[in-house]
Amino acid sequence: MGLETEFPSEFQTPAAPPTVYVDEKEQPWDVKQGGELKVPESFVWPDAMQPKVAFNEYVDVPLIDLAPCHTGDEIGIQKVVKEVDAACREWGAFQVINHGIPDDVVLRAREAMKRVFHLPPEIKLKAQRDYIKNYNGFGAGSMLCPSKQWSEAFQFLMTDEAAPAVIDDYGERLFGDDKEFFCNAIKEYLIGNDKVRLLIWDLVIKGLKVKNDSFFKKYLSGSVNKGFRSNYYPPCPDPSKVVGLVVHTDSTLGLVQLGDVGGYQLMKDGVWMSVNPRKGENTLCINIGDYIEVMSNNQYKSVIHRVVTNTEEERISIDCVAQPPWDFPLSTCPELIDEDHPQIYKPIIGKEYQAVKLEGHVCRPQKFFTVAGDAHLELRHAAGNVFSSTSDPSVVAARA
Ligand SMILES: [Fe+2]
Repeated sequence: MGLETEFPSEFQTPAAPPTVYVDEKEQPWDVKQGGELKVPESFVWPDAMQPKVAFNEYVDVPLIDLAPCHTGDEIGIQKVVKEVDAACREWGAFQVINHGIPDDVVLRAREAMKRVFHLPPEIKLKAQRDYIKNYNGFGAGSMLCPSKQWSEAFQFLMTDEAAPAVIDDYGERLFGDDKEFFCNAIKEYLIGNDKVRLLIWDLVIKGLKVKNDSFFKKYLSGSVNKGFRSNYYPPCPDPSKVVGLVVHTDSTLGLVQLGDVGGYQLMKDGVWMSVNPRKGENTLCINIGDYIEVMSNNQYKSVIHRVVTNTEEERISIDCVAQPPWDFPLSTCPELIDEDHPQIYKPIIGKEYQAVKLEGHVCRPQKFFTVAGDAHLELRHAAGNVFSSTSDPSVVAARA
């Protein structure tokens, strides 16, 4: 087995430029014009895609206390299942407390990533993203976006077997002999996330009232690829002109550590809203993702989201995901298809899905694989993507 999980050959041409920032001597957020920090012209987005809702115009998404799941309180668990079910249907996202990852593990992971993002560019270059092999390392906030975003990201995708070596390798490149803090913090955090992911997955199965749970469980068994991704959003002199992270949906169930600073926005009923990060509380934001939307026959929704910036505080997030190998078939649970609930999506394989996403269709790309749309390939090209002119209603809504 190789050291890291390699992308299939179809993904060897990156949609994004090779690097955005780490090869520049002066990072864009430090650029001064006339003695003042200014947004470089190349980072200004078209007006239609500029954020109109401030980072701190907060709404509370459903907050679910997972404590009963750890104590075995059956009545409490049933309440949690109902809350998760309602949140997945209405929002496609929710926050959880008492998820089981200890405060000190979260704090160490956040401190580790803070140290990483404050390394000088010449050190970050040693861990520059490998766009040919696997997309691991430092690079643009979203690798699916050809335009410049006010962020940078550090990420790796790996199997459990490869994880210790991958993390040690990046620790060595970034911190040399001082790598221990970084390596231990990330390894501990990943272990904590694995437990929460399985717990949420179980709640999803219960919420959907699936009797034969093997359909869902096979997605997280076998040679699963685990993703660790941390994004850094520096303060921005003019947040109204830039995009922190481009609008998108997540492919698979995501466990997002939002930190204490706002900026994470989701779209509900066509309206953008900033998620309250619940400062000081040890919360995780759970995104259901595209795969579960397909598996649930569209009962659970994949939430459209993005990140905006602010003028004062830097923001760091950490997102952990897991997904089956690229050749794994993505399909709808047979139990959730009947006369009243006809199958919405055609079965596809993971790499076909990812290929559409890499074309720039980063919001719910499964809509191009509907059973009703026989000419789905033509549809997918006609609809355009979030980066080009389109009349596709959901994309237009995503831009609003
Ligand atoms: Fe996301």
